[in-house]
Formats: sequence, C-alpha cells, structure tokens
Amino acid sequence: MKNKELLKVNNLRVHYPVRGGFWNRIVDNVKAVDGVTITIHQGDTYGLIGESGSGKSTTGKAIVGLENATKGNIYYQGMDITKKLTRRKLKYNREVQMIFQDPQLSLNPEKRIADIIAEPLRNFEKLSKEEEKIRVIQLLDIVGLGPEALYKYPHQFSGGQRQRIGVARAVATHPKLIVADEPVSALDLSVQAQVLNFMKKIQAKFNISYLFISHDLGVVRHMCNHIAIMNRGRLVEVGTKDDIYNHPMHIYTERLLAAIPETNVNQRKAHHENRLAVEKMYQEHKDEYYDKNGEALPLQKISDTHFAAIPKNRVNLLKSGSGKVSD
Ligand SMILES: Nc1ncnc2c1ncn2[C@@H]1O[C@H](COP(=O)(O)OP(=O)(O)O)[C@@H](O)[C@H]1O
Ligand SMILES: [Mg+2]
Repeated sequence: MKNKELLKVNNLRVHYPVRGGFWNRIVDNVKAVDGVTITIHQGDTYGLIGESGSGKSTTGKAIVGLENATKGNIYYQGMDITKKLTRRKLKYNREVQMIFQDPQLSLNPEKRIADIIAEPLRNFEKLSKEEEKIRVIQLLDIVGLGPEALYKYPHQFSGGQRQRIGVARAVATHPKLIVADEPVSALDLSVQAQVLNFMKKIQAKFNISYLFISHDLGVVRHMCNHIAIMNRGRLVEVGTKDDIYNHPMHIYTERLLAAIPETNVNQRKAHHENRLAVEKMYQEHKDEYYDKNGEALPLQKISDTHFAAIPKNRVNLLKSGSGKVSD
C-alpha cells in the first residue's frame, strides 16, 4: 500500500516581473516556475533534478513559503497552505524545513553554533536555557558532532561539518519534510558521500521525507525513490527511480543521464563517447520536444508511475509496441 500523501504541489507558477524602459513598467515575466505538479508521500525521497536556471530553487522556496505562488496551490496533508495565514495556523513552518546549498552562506557567521541550532526551536517551543542546551547537544550528537561545537563559530568548521550543522538546525523542530536544495553540491566528492549517508540515517530515525534538489542525476541515484526532471520551469519527466534511470523517455533526461560523471577510470572513454553521441542526438532532435515558443510539451502518461513531455506520436508508437523513442 502506498504511504500517506504529505505534500502536493498543484500547477505551481512563480513568475517574476521584469521592469524596463523610461517608466520602469513591467515589460515581461520570467517564468521561473511554470506549471509544476508533484506529490510527495510520507517516507519519500523525491528528487527534483535539472540544470541551473530550470526553476528548482524557486519551487523549493515556494514550498517552504520563502517565495509566493503566482498561481497554483500547495497542499500539506490535504490542507491548502498556499496562503501565509493558513501556514501559520497549521504550524506548517515547523513541520517543513529547508537546507541550503552553501552552508557557508546559510549559517550566520556571527552567531555561535548553540544559537544557530536553537533559533528554530525558540520560535516554536518555550524551553529553559538548560533544556535548550540539552536539546542542542542531542542534535549535534545526531549529526556526529560533540558538545565542544556549542560555543564555536561557523568558520571554525569544514564545509562538511557546516552542512551537518545545517541539518541539525533543520531537524531541531522535528519536521516531517525537509526541502534540501543542492545540499552537497558545494562539497568535495568524498565529503558528499558522508553527508548523504547521515541524511539517510536521519531520515530513518525521524521518519522524515525529503524533497532533494540537485543538478546531478548521479548524486540522487542512491537517495531518491521518485524523481521529477525540471527544464525551463516545467517538468519534462516524472517517474520512479527505475523509470528515470532505466527507461528515460525525454531527450533532456537522456542528456542529464549521460552527464553523470564517471568515477571508474576504465569506463571513462566509453562514457565520453556515449556523451558525445547523446549530445549529437539531442542537438538533432530537441526541437521535437518543445513547442514553437520553446516551451516543454504537456506530460503524457507512459505508465501508472511514469510521465514524460514527449510528442504524442511517440506515445502512440510506444502503445503499438514499436519500441523506444530514439529508435
Ligand atoms: N528574484 C528573482 N527575480 C527574477 N528572476 C529570478 C529570481 N529568482 C530566480 N530568477 C530566475 O528564475 C529562473 C529559475 O531560477 P532558480 O529557481 O534559481 O533555478 P535553479 O535553482 O534550477 O538553478 C532563472 O532564470 C533565474 O534567473
Ligand atoms: Mg538552485
């Protein structure tokens, strides 16, 4: 049986006005997010993947309330929390937290770790100084840091340790969902694996669900059970891990798959050749996957779990059993 629905983003649009000219009028709109629908169930690690500028961070910010929806709705446990007032009433801000890409920038450099981690707690709970200290030490322990961290400042830690502190802060209020925006992209490869591992551990321990944002399909391969591919503000493919990695349908997904860095030295040559071949196919065929305004086509149903923004005639080909997109 499928787990309970936790978050539903329904046809979300976030458009930024562009001003210009002598009167500084609105002359255009940046459609950062242009009709995104995703459903996250309890226990999911849901990957939102696309190259830089596709609208991933804006989607994440709209979910946690750092950005307003221009159109569309966000439901949390079935309740519409699109408006600020309902978010407050439902303690939504306590239950949904965000982790940012660069822990250097997201942790206040002038505050001690004790205060950085306690800050979200102070917003929601009335704890004595002593109780607060005990909680912060517990949180540090969960992310593998000792109590000596309490009175230090962010610059006294490495990048990986700072991201641990960011995670401790995010889990302080016992959230049900964490939006993790490129949480390891600023870290060295070896440190990335450590941070991903303890994010997984924390997930099991506290029953947290993640919306995991990344530009790299390789990073989320071992994390995510469900994936949405975002491109130019829209979703171009949605599916289970197996759908996306083993049966990609959209040309943009195939390109992201080919771009996953190859760590095995013996495979590098083959990997590079494959990447060139996919790029050639992409340049030759990409126009078929977008309308005349350059916008992604509507999603078509491939199976109960798998949807892709591919031309209708391709879907018909699939139904008649004539095989794969790139045949
Ligand atoms: N505050 C803003 N004002 C205007 N445009 C913005 C703003 N924030 C983001 N954008 C634009 O929206 C698009 C999507 O940005 P973003 O969500 O940050 O993408 P991603 O996280 O996938 O790299 C980009 O073209 C970006 O320049
Ligand atoms: Mg981003």
